[in-house]
Amino acid sequence: MKKIFSGVQPTGTVTLGNYIGAFKQFTELQEEYDCIFCIVDQHAITMPQDRLELRKNIKSLAALYLAVGIDPEKVTLFIQSEVPAHAQAGWMLQCVSTIGELERMTQFKDKSAKAASISAGLLTYPPLMAADILLYQTDIVPVGDDQKQHIELTRDLAERFNRKYNDIFTIPDIRIPKHGARVMSLQDPAKKMSKSDSNKKSIITLLDDLKTIEKKVKSAVTDSEGIVKYDPENKPGVSNLLSIEAALTGASIDELVAKYEGSGYGDFKAGVAKAITDHLAPIQERYYKLLDSEELDTILDEGAEKANFIANKTLKKMENAMGLGRKRKR
Ligand code: TYM
Repeated sequence: MKKIFSGVQPTGTVTLGNYIGAFKQFTELQEEYDCIFCIVDQHAITMPQDRLELRKNIKSLAALYLAVGIDPEKVTLFIQSEVPAHAQAGWMLQCVSTIGELERMTQFKDKSAKAASISAGLLTYPPLMAADILLYQTDIVPVGDDQKQHIELTRDLAERFNRKYNDIFTIPDIRIPKHGARVMSLQDPAKKMSKSDSNKKSIITLLDDLKTIEKKVKSAVTDSEGIVKYDPENKPGVSNLLSIEAALTGASIDELVAKYEGSGYGDFKAGVAKAITDHLAPIQERYYKLLDSEELDTILDEGAEKANFIANKTLKKMENAMGLGRKRKR
């Protein structure tokens, strides 16, 4: 069975962008593939975090994974820092990466341009992400469009390692969703919707209350043409809303354009808001039930155990290939 790996950072509340780009794909893929999903807390600390807030976000993200429909019977769900092989393999992969290629990552450039002080971890984040993926011999990585460059680097590092040492790693492919691979900000549709946006009207989080969601959609920036059609270049705001509704309902863009033919933006936005709230209401209900349940800890414990077992096998092969430690008799 083909293997899937993906991760989400426990920073802030998950947005509709994360949901459509990542979580929604996860719930579809778990039916057909061997899926491993991770709460990547070691990635989160590449930027300053409040420790109590981080702990809270880790638990909240675990509950959200389940609330969106991830089935722990089918999937391995775990916390990155509870599987030490990630940091160990990340170090080895840093040693086959060049500073030049890491400095070229657009996410590094964007984040470092905004940060007052840049951690070394922000630069060396992509080899850790490569380790996450490669330790599980992953075939497919479902992510949003913004992670494309990191997956390409992962493939380069895997090929380089395989050539230089031993053919150890499976070369992973990326999978991005048809609609909503890059959900855009509601206030500035030229920018992606991002958890860290300081203007909270720009983002919809999975835990926003339903009235707030309606208000945010109502105030989304569109244009003055008053016609609902899909044209990302000239009508980025309207196109973004159409993509969101398409991704959540499974309708095609053409079907939605036909649905809103002759409607003004008021009715269009009310329709999009309804698609979002209909989708998120049951997720929110499940989330609040799960958050403080013991079940959540059991699932994460079992997930860490399974993940440690798989990851350590690849880690051993990497250490042998590079000549680390001692050769041991069985
Ligand atoms: P993160 O936590 O920023 O985002 C989690 C997932 O959400 C997707 N995403 C979006 N998709 C569509 N539109 C948006 N506006 C949007 N914003 C975010 C991201 O593409 C991602 O799939 N580096 C990763 C986490 C990571 C990872 C991994 C992913 C660490 N190791 C290994 C896959 C495999 C990140 O920061 O995602």
